[in-house]
Amino acid sequence: MDYETPQFFRVMKYASEAEGDVIDMVSGNPDWEPPEALREGLYEYADVDSGQFQYPPSVGLTALREEIAARRGVDRSRVIVTNGAGEANHLAMSGALEAMDGNEIIMVDPVYPYYAGRAGMLGADRTYVPVDEDGHLDAGTVRDLASKETAAIVVNSPNNPMGVTYGGDTIEELVDVAEDCDAVLVSDEVYDHFDYSGKFRSALSVDSPSRIVTNSFSKSMAITGWRVGYAIFPDADRPVPYGDLADAARTRHMLTNVATSRPAQAAVLHALEHTGPEYHEAARDRMEERIDHFTTALDETGAEYTDPEGSFYVMARFPDVGGTLEDVKWLIDEAGVAGMPGEAFGESRADWIRFALVSPRVEEAAQRLDEFFAEGNPR
Ligand SMILES: Cc1ncc(COP(=O)(O)O)c(C=O)c1O
Repeated sequence: MDYETPQFFRVMKYASEAEGDVIDMVSGNPDWEPPEALREGLYEYADVDSGQFQYPPSVGLTALREEIAARRGVDRSRVIVTNGAGEANHLAMSGALEAMDGNEIIMVDPVYPYYAGRAGMLGADRTYVPVDEDGHLDAGTVRDLASKETAAIVVNSPNNPMGVTYGGDTIEELVDVAEDCDAVLVSDEVYDHFDYSGKFRSALSVDSPSRIVTNSFSKSMAITGWRVGYAIFPDADRPVPYGDLADAARTRHMLTNVATSRPAQAAVLHALEHTGPEYHEAARDRMEERIDHFTTALDETGAEYTDPEGSFYVMARFPDVGGTLEDVKWLIDEAGVAGMPGEAFGESRADWIRFALVSPRVEEAAQRLDEFFAEGNPR
């Protein structure tokens, strides 16, 4: 699989240029409103002294880092505000490769393709651990594969694309494996507000020097275009090389980005301070309702599918339909519904198609698929 050429934009372009009306369920861009306080924060920022239009501290606005640190129960010195979880993952993975003896990055299959693309770009040896039938990761398999050659194990829970949430036991064991191999567990938790199972457990809950947690406000505040995320590194007083990871990441962040957008950080801070849990509950309820509509319709199509415990995604396998780019184009042209080819996520779900339920037209999409497959496979 060529992970270095991301396919998202290719599929979205095809869908937007298709002749008929197409319901776009390709990428994970939320279609709902951000918290009200976020817009307020941005309006207010337009009127501040222009001195505040200049460089912020490279590691992020101090007050935002403090707010994140307080919420995550860590010292502020461990927090770097990044250009989304994308950059946070980059700092974590590149930092691990540089600091650890090994050159291997272990990921699951199906994988969030940017992990694999980035690992390739960084010259890492990539090892994939297939998930089980229902999408869960067996940490014991990771233990069997990991070794002193391993620099990082990269996981994501709640998971894109499989929609599973890893339980506490899995997270604990993964941290333990990372510790035993002198590696780092990189735990990408961007969908933490979208856990419907109640099982979500942050890697921060396991005390260890061997973990870096990444996150962002892209999904939780419906602002993928704002580019505000963060990484939480081990404390500086942890043994070398773990204790040096934050410092190395600060340098890398400074040299590549200088800093993250100041108005965006200020507005996110305002939103954090003035948004209650009901905002996130409403977003979860909306998504659960969509999952219900979509999966109920899939039942009628004869498809196999994943029933999400978390995140935005349903993977489906339709009878006699594959998960290639060509299959997805065919479904766009014939049924007017666009998903992501399963093959873009690796080998183990190459026959599947991933649908992102971030469209107000999810119910209509479900109906279209239902009608399309009603008479058996129309191919
Ligand atoms: C698992 C995962 N990590 C990271 C990202 C990117 O997040 P950000 O927009 O904060 O860079 C995504 C986006 O879809 C994602 O699904």
